[in-house]
Amino acid sequence: MRSETSLIPLGIFSEKKSRRLKKSLPNTAMQSMPSAWLTVLMHYTWHCAPSISTALAIAYSGADPVLVDIDEEDFNIDVDLIEQAITPRTKAIIPVHLYGQPAKMDRIRAIAEKHSLAIIEDSAQAHAAECNGQRTGSLGTIGCFSFYPGKNLGAFGDGGAITTNDPTIADRVRLLRNYGQVKKNEHSMLGFNCRLDTVQAAVLLVKLAHLDKWTEQRRRVAARYNELLADSDFELPIERSDAKHVYHLYVVRHPERDRFIEELAKAGIFCGIHYPNPLNRAQPFEAARTVPSGLPVCDRISKEIMSLPMYPEMTDEQIVRVAESLNACLAQS
Ligand SMILES: Cc1ncc(COP(=O)(O)O)c(C=O)c1O
Repeated sequence: MRSETSLIPLGIFSEKKSRRLKKSLPNTAMQSMPSAWLTVLMHYTWHCAPSISTALAIAYSGADPVLVDIDEEDFNIDVDLIEQAITPRTKAIIPVHLYGQPAKMDRIRAIAEKHSLAIIEDSAQAHAAECNGQRTGSLGTIGCFSFYPGKNLGAFGDGGAITTNDPTIADRVRLLRNYGQVKKNEHSMLGFNCRLDTVQAAVLLVKLAHLDKWTEQRRRVAARYNELLADSDFELPIERSDAKHVYHLYVVRHPERDRFIEELAKAGIFCGIHYPNPLNRAQPFEAARTVPSGLPVCDRISKEIMSLPMYPEMTDEQIVRVAESLNACLAQS
């Protein structure tokens, strides 16, 4: 995070608490965007279980999302396709750092610069992840973090924050989160109530001190899965050489994943699918524009991916049990 980056929790953190948060986290959840933006975004991520939040935020801002397919290697936005989605009306690129691995930010920054576009990082799944040694949330114009309880840094309920180096954007977001209030009873714009409640702020401040340790524990779980499943037929997640992956999710791929999920559930091991439906199959975005080639990779992988149990406190015994159960399923294939 660059030293001048502003972190604007969408809540009632004091400025002092914000400074503490800012030291560790470059950015958090964005609740609103300038209106009339036509936005380029990766499509796949947001058709997530609780919401299709990022695409909805774009739509609510008055913009139209343009959906870009993903890269089969890391499941992040396919940077080779981005320029096909850009038109004279495009205002921003929104890469999602999916599953905790940053998108290829060097190339995205070069494209954004060439076309004079803003970058809004969706870092909801990537607290403390890095691209070329720099933390997510400090790699674009604006960074957005979620503190939903299941996230790598989760509150007791909902919450989020944004980070930015741009003082004009920072001031505007501060107004937007609190009814557009400049000072008591003086309102300069149509704002929202996007404040984080104090209980969430208190929980987050305590948990924040543990984030780096939890990140390393997640990485340990991932490394152990990699080891135990190395000789299996599963396609395992890769960590790119320019990236530090924080394994919000550990996602493996296999054409028979539905059977495996069923078998593991019988043994009391519950796996998820993130996500079973590409965003353009969600009713509100059925008509959304995509790159000309459509979203074939999203379609393909959505039928084959499964997320293994992943949390910092997993014991070696638990990791081994999951891996052995998967290997046993494979042996029956
Ligand atoms: C990639 C991504 N973006 C955005 C969000 C939305 O975050 P929130 O639920 O805090 O609004 C989520 C949460 O599920 C997410 O995973």
